[in-house]
Amino acid sequence: MSVYEAIARRRDVRNEFTGDVVDEEVLLRLLRAAHAAPSVGHTRPWDFVVVQDPATLARFASHVAGCREDFARSLPRDRAETFDPIVIDGIEQSGTGIVVTYDPARVAAPMCSDGTPSNETGRLSVALAIENLWLAATAEGVGVGWVSFYHNDFLSRLLSIPDDVEPVAWLCVGPVTGLRSVPDLEHFGWRAGRPLDAAVHREAYRDRDTAVSGEQ
Ligand SMILES: Cc1cc2nc3c(=O)[nH]c(=O)nc-3n(C[C@H](O)[C@H](O)[C@H](O)COP(=O)(O)O)c2cc1C
Repeated sequence: MSVYEAIARRRDVRNEFTGDVVDEEVLLRLLRAAHAAPSVGHTRPWDFVVVQDPATLARFASHVAGCREDFARSLPRDRAETFDPIVIDGIEQSGTGIVVTYDPARVAAPMCSDGTPSNETGRLSVALAIENLWLAATAEGVGVGWVSFYHNDFLSRLLSIPDDVEPVAWLCVGPVTGLRSVPDLEHFGWRAGRPLDAAVHREAYRDRDTAVSGEQ
């Protein structure tokens, strides 16, 4: 599969996991792809916690379900109704969670000339590792779903993540029946994809589109 095909086919997966556990060789290839990502100062400031114990998956799924309810309660009624049918995770169905963490101690914050520390570069590097894994999984016919509805403290306690290491994502990873052609959030009317034309500016930033929302 070409990189463009993988980019076009990649999908955030919630419903299409088969229930089988990802093959160990494939899992290692995905982790190798993630670990080959670019990183600030070549620090590779990420770690990957692979979780396959059904009891741990169930505990995390129950925590996420609670967070989902809290979020749904915070929405105005019409948005709550749109959100209602949307599944936000496949934690147990995928059979594997890969928790990607960021260790700030590995990154010395580069200082700008005015002395402002710019310390987001480490966390951004972690996002690149996640995207590498996601695209590699797509090429392997494996689904990935990013879960962010959780409290860091809960996840850190669950997996014994040190206090000064930040969990960035829980990725549900597993074989799938297929990948949808349209993102779930678009399918269920949560949000249409923002067109490329609205995001590209020539020579200077002009015509900011007004559909800016603070919601997820
Ligand atoms: C930082 C981040 C956090 C996300 N958190 C969640 C989440 O908690 N639950 C979920 O179902 N999808 C989550 N997603 C997936 C997005 O909803 C998804 O990428 C978006 O709807 C576009 O769909 P696509 O990835 O299939 O193109 C997250 C994605 C990103 C990049």
